[in-house]
Amino acid sequence: MEREVKVYTDLQRGTISKHIYGHFSEHLGRCIYEGLWVGEDSSIPNTDGIRTDVLEALKELNIPVLRWPGGCFADEYHWKDGIGPRESRKRMVNTHWGGVIENNHFGTHEFLRLCELLGAEPYICGNVGSGTVQEMQEWVEYMTFDGESPMANWRAENGKKEPWRLTYFGVGNENWGCGGHMRAEYYADLYRRYQTYVRNYGNNKLYKIAGGANVDDYHWTEVLMREASQLMDGLSLHYYTVPGDNWNEKGAALDKHESQWFKTLKKAFRMDDLLTRHSAIMDQYDPEKRVGLIVDEWGTWFDVEPGTNPGFLYQQNTIRDALVAGVHFHIFHEHNDRVHMANIAQMVNVLQAMVLTEGERMLRTPTYHVFHMYKVHQDATRLEVKTDAGLYRYDEQELPAITATASKDSNGAIHISICHLDPNHAASLALKLEGIEKPLSAANVSGELLTANELNAHNTFEQPNKVEPVAYGPTSVSGQELKLDVPPSSVLRVTIRP
Ligand code: AHR
Repeated sequence: MEREVKVYTDLQRGTISKHIYGHFSEHLGRCIYEGLWVGEDSSIPNTDGIRTDVLEALKELNIPVLRWPGGCFADEYHWKDGIGPRESRKRMVNTHWGGVIENNHFGTHEFLRLCELLGAEPYICGNVGSGTVQEMQEWVEYMTFDGESPMANWRAENGKKEPWRLTYFGVGNENWGCGGHMRAEYYADLYRRYQTYVRNYGNNKLYKIAGGANVDDYHWTEVLMREASQLMDGLSLHYYTVPGDNWNEKGAALDKHESQWFKTLKKAFRMDDLLTRHSAIMDQYDPEKRVGLIVDEWGTWFDVEPGTNPGFLYQQNTIRDALVAGVHFHIFHEHNDRVHMANIAQMVNVLQAMVLTEGERMLRTPTYHVFHMYKVHQDATRLEVKTDAGLYRYDEQELPAITATASKDSNGAIHISICHLDPNHAASLALKLEGIEKPLSAANVSGELLTANELNAHNTFEQPNKVEPVAYGPTSVSGQELKLDVPPSSVLRVTIRP
């Protein structure tokens, strides 16, 4: 049966914020240390202490924004421990993540240098759970005050005379849990107080993000919006795709059973319902949609790889993760009126990572390739899409077999991304472009395809390129229509240049 995707090129649905393609890096496991930071004296080639291979790979993703230092780590982090000469920085225990020594060698200067090298905007998450208002106020002053002030002077003594530009600042993380086990009502009041002292110095205008709900805690969103929406620019939301039925049995990243494949994708789709319902609450208090919904933690969360530290959250990454990423992007695009930013957890060596490292070696994951394939949508205009592509059925349950999203960039190129969730059947797809002025020509069409034959196909340090995109083209092009052969378990992109 032929399936159909229609793209309405004249029905434009607003901008897809590039910040939806944001990332998150926490002092957790081997994300910062080993994964990003090796230090200037390392035998691993590095740029100002940041490993060059990882940096170069990440630069190709056009990372728009990077969240740091946590996560749960943020509400135990005291930023003053991480500045000044490295050898004299305080050594502490990372109590939340594995009980390992944190030597604070990667601090504010190192993070902001990383952002500079990546060309990414920093998103700093401040400490509400165990930090003071003064500490938070001084951190912002340290980073952004231009002129004579105690913190600006100290920054200059530490080698940085000019302030950094900082837009995104989070006031705490998961304050319903690791960030203080607070009630929404209590946190709302604390948010109002802390954010008062998170100041705009000079022309540095901050975008203040309040700590948001866990999954479907709609009460949290309701209270925060009612009590504090006038004082925030964004409200966060965390939702992880965990295939297992409880946190002790999340499922293996390398599981190759269709039952786990289906469950994972079904759970990924839950993001749509969550965004719809949290947005509906936000609409009641903010009908103009000024306050952004900031999904600053999302992605797959599996059991750690056997033999690795349970507190390090190290997991492999397969074609299943690639589809989870694609499905999320389609959902975020659909909600582009409210979702201003999203940050996958996490960038390196933790949870649904872009790259994995082992000593000197590095590999790009299937998720990395999806971020690469989708970067064309950053700040592009979303186009209306209608999909009539059948269902993928498993064990008397069903999911859409195909989901699609489309955008038009500032050069007039149209990009269509498609996820084919069915792992058992190939699909013949008619891709129709409504509203175009000239007939399509094969010469203007290009594409990429990411697919694999096994449900747990992944890259290893021995075979780092097993799952990677290949060039892809339609089987025919005529008038307004492209015919596509879509393999099972695949993510693809088709671009039509004007
Ligand atoms: O990303 C891992 C952890 O998940 C973060 O530290 C925390 O915010 C969330 O619970």
